[in-house]
Amino acid sequence: MLKVKVLDHPYIQVVLTTLRDRSIKQIEFRKAMVRLGRAMGFEITRDFELEEVEVETPLGVKTRGVRFKDMDRVVIVTVLRAGMPMTEGLIKIFYNARQGVVSARRVEEKGMYPDKSFDVEITYVRLPTITRDDTVLIVDPMLATGSTIREILKIILSRRKPRRVLIVGAIATPLAIERIRPIVEAYNVEATIYTASIDPEVNEKGYIVPGLGDAGDRAFGE
Ligand code: URA
Repeated sequence: MLKVKVLDHPYIQVVLTTLRDRSIKQIEFRKAMVRLGRAMGFEITRDFELEEVEVETPLGVKTRGVRFKDMDRVVIVTVLRAGMPMTEGLIKIFYNARQGVVSARRVEEKGMYPDKSFDVEITYVRLPTITRDDTVLIVDPMLATGSTIREILKIILSRRKPRRVLIVGAIATPLAIERIRPIVEAYNVEATIYTASIDPEVNEKGYIVPGLGDAGDRAFGE
């Protein structure tokens, strides 16, 4: 029920390398994250169904072509604030998407679990109406432990089951994937994680290693 796709297009891998580079500054980082969102969006459209259409060109000649069947049935849910630049890129591709935002906070007071995950508290949710025909893209560049995505999935899927959920991140970990899977299965929803890389681990501070650091701080300053 949960698929995982590592997008290995050379352009995506080049941008990811830029993002990982500690020497790039805030604006450069933010712009690279926008580029990554746009490039990943292009690749994600491979999983959007096409339908044949006929158009008439300015020469008065009819010709056959294609369009995306469900381009008007996309909802983008951005995890604040790190997901904002990536959404800016994705929205160039999914140009008719309705948008929602979610804000989450790590509950540090309860401490870290042995698998290095923390509980996450969702502090702000504004979602558009989501229908059974919609494809929901959840945008969070760093899928470290999967805690935030788990909570967002529960909120969205307990209201209504959309056609499918696409989770878009720059980097994911095996831990995040395995913690997201049971939620997807419990709600019996079609879901795919798209990422530019699967990095091996999360450190004691909750950062992905090798990762790219704190995506929110690097894009917007500490
Ligand atoms: N969030 C980040 O911004 N970076 C990480 O490495 C993990 C979570």
